[in-house]
Amino acid sequence: MNIIKHVKRGLWNHLMKSGIEMGLASIIYEVGVASKYVNHAMRTGDLGLAGTSNLYGEDQLALDVLADEIIKDRLDHTGRVSRIISEEQSEIIIFDRKSKAGGYSVCYDPLDGSSLVDVNLSVGTIVAIYAGDDPLQSGRHQVGAMYVVYGPRTTLVYGAGNGVHEFTLNSLGEYVLTREYLTVKKQGNIYSPGGVRCDYSLEHEKFVKKLEDEGYKLRYSGGFVPDINQILLKGGGLFMYPGTATAKHGKLRLPFELNPMAYLMEAVGGAATDGRRAILDLDCYDIDQRSPVYIGSRDEVELAAKFFAGDMK
Ligand code: AHG
Ligand code: MN
Ligand code: MN
Repeated sequence: MNIIKHVKRGLWNHLMKSGIEMGLASIIYEVGVASKYVNHAMRTGDLGLAGTSNLYGEDQLALDVLADEIIKDRLDHTGRVSRIISEEQSEIIIFDRKSKAGGYSVCYDPLDGSSLVDVNLSVGTIVAIYAGDDPLQSGRHQVGAMYVVYGPRTTLVYGAGNGVHEFTLNSLGEYVLTREYLTVKKQGNIYSPGGVRCDYSLEHEKFVKKLEDEGYKLRYSGGFVPDINQILLKGGGLFMYPGTATAKHGKLRLPFELNPMAYLMEAVGGAATDGRRAILDLDCYDIDQRSPVYIGSRDEVELAAKFFAGDMK
């Protein structure tokens, strides 16, 4: 391993070179630090369910609760975050500091797809970052977003206004740049259908059938982060989690799942809608707000809109 190359391609160097405001850079960097502890706990700990205790009698935390604790601690440590929304917290958390000028608010899913860890499938962390004291903003106002994939490799993808870039955790515990200025294919060959077929609306059913008739390959792991990561890095295509008869607004949450992924997908030249409107333009007013989602290559997202506008028979 060429150590100097790894030092030069480290995450902090990249953030500084990108000219990102120091507070925003430290948030992205500290989530990277937190992800190393989450990664370690996931691959070494015998983490049972919350409420059990380990051999030292300490309360054992479920991995997603532990991940939440670690990320919350690192965000507080930056001294630049005034409010957070976490999938694991039932209300907005205010850090006991008057947000300094240039403070930030962060929405995150500490461990998306956490139930997949027990069957050794890839999971992820998803983060949206806003300037100021209000974490409940339209996704269009994000100043940055990122995700971490805990898979065969641990990779971190971030965007903060100057391209979207991928880093891979090396054996020294450093995130080193592995792909820079990512772009998604305008049209792809993968579809991730989401939901349960018997609950599909007529429009969604017809749209999914259209993709299948066109030979799209079904790729659906049950993990939003690795499924999106595959569309971004590999064949392009579309991830969907539709509104259904039983769940009109779908399953995925706007503040900490859809907004950050939509920010990144638009930044790489893709798109993300609720079938009609851009995810980033949706008014975000509740920490548990859900929305149907069609996210990925631009052509497929636009095709979905035609089915929902009733233009396609
Ligand atoms: P979480 O584990 O944070 O609740 O999120 C899981 C989500 C997302 O990762 C995935 O796309 C979706 O659940 C899968 O849902 P189904 O199991 O209903 O397909
Ligand atoms: Mn989630
Ligand atoms: Mn989660």
